[in-house]
Amino acid sequence: MQEQISKIREVAVEEISKATDAKELDNVRVKYLGKKGELTSILRGMGGLAPEERPIIGSKVNEVRDELENRIKEREKEFAKEELERKLKEETIDITLPSTKVKRGSKHPLNRIIEEVEDLFVSMGYDVVSGPELETDEFCFERLNLPKGHPARDMQDSFYITSEYLLRTQTSAVQARTLLANTEKTPIRVICPGKTYRRDDDATHSHQFSQVEGLVVDKNISLADLKGTLEVFVRHLLGENLELRFRPSYFPFTEPSYEVDVSCFKCGGKGCNLCKQTGWIEVLGSGIVHPNVLKMGGYDPEVYSGFAFGTGLDRLAMFKYGITDIRLLYQNDVRFLNQFDRLDR
Ligand code: DAH
Repeated sequence: MQEQISKIREVAVEEISKATDAKELDNVRVKYLGKKGELTSILRGMGGLAPEERPIIGSKVNEVRDELENRIKEREKEFAKEELERKLKEETIDITLPSTKVKRGSKHPLNRIIEEVEDLFVSMGYDVVSGPELETDEFCFERLNLPKGHPARDMQDSFYITSEYLLRTQTSAVQARTLLANTEKTPIRVICPGKTYRRDDDATHSHQFSQVEGLVVDKNISLADLKGTLEVFVRHLLGENLELRFRPSYFPFTEPSYEVDVSCFKCGGKGCNLCKQTGWIEVLGSGIVHPNVLKMGGYDPEVYSGFAFGTGLDRLAMFKYGITDIRLLYQNDVRFLNQFDRLDR
């Protein structure tokens, strides 16, 4: 019996060391130590042994079983180690390889300008508001003192969708909306940047362009407020030392109206190709809100007064960044946009 056990041990030890993977090893374990395993059967058959033999055989079997279990455990550890080494080798990362370049986007020049304008006006207590790009004739014209048939409508070549709906030609439409929406008729201080549309298409005019509108309504608002505000605005955006010139003009929704010129930031006012030798560049339309506009917006012009201004953001971006064709702003050519990658503002 003892010999039989030794024999089993010998063969089992050999099979354990020959097992090449975890599955084979498990088969060996079942074969010798499992419920119907060879060692287990010996323990089961002990009833047939002489009583004095039982403890000897029992302890021998237990000894062999413990040994085999330990050897199996050792072998399992070896397999795990081999597996880990294999994986490490397979999944090594060559850190000397060049990396794939991560492409970073950049802010569109128009958005840069919009954010800069918004930051400035918000710092002065203005709200930023918006209105629909598909606008009604009523808000785009009528409520701005431009009734149907008014000759000044010809100043803007519009995209009409129906006889009542059009793509807004000016952010001024939001003036009328803001006045009307403020049901409490409290003072107003807003700017509205947004897209506008006209039937134009050349190097300095795009059918889609961007404007920012400003509107302030309160008691005792005067031209001095308008001038001071626009000086801060234009100088902040284009240069602190620039001069502003208010040239009388005509807009139906303001009276008096002014076009605002800024001393040429390229030649300093001496005259160059940018300012067409005049020393001045036109940047804004503005004026004192027409009493009719206030009245239609529900504000009593005897009590309230206001100023308004509007400017083309594309032109400002072109001046600021030296862009010569407005269409570049709308083509989204990455070679153009990349150039703004590293600007601070
Ligand atoms: N909406 C005018 C335009 O598109 C610009 C303008 C002029 C806006 C005078 C105003 C203003 O608010 O007061 O040409």
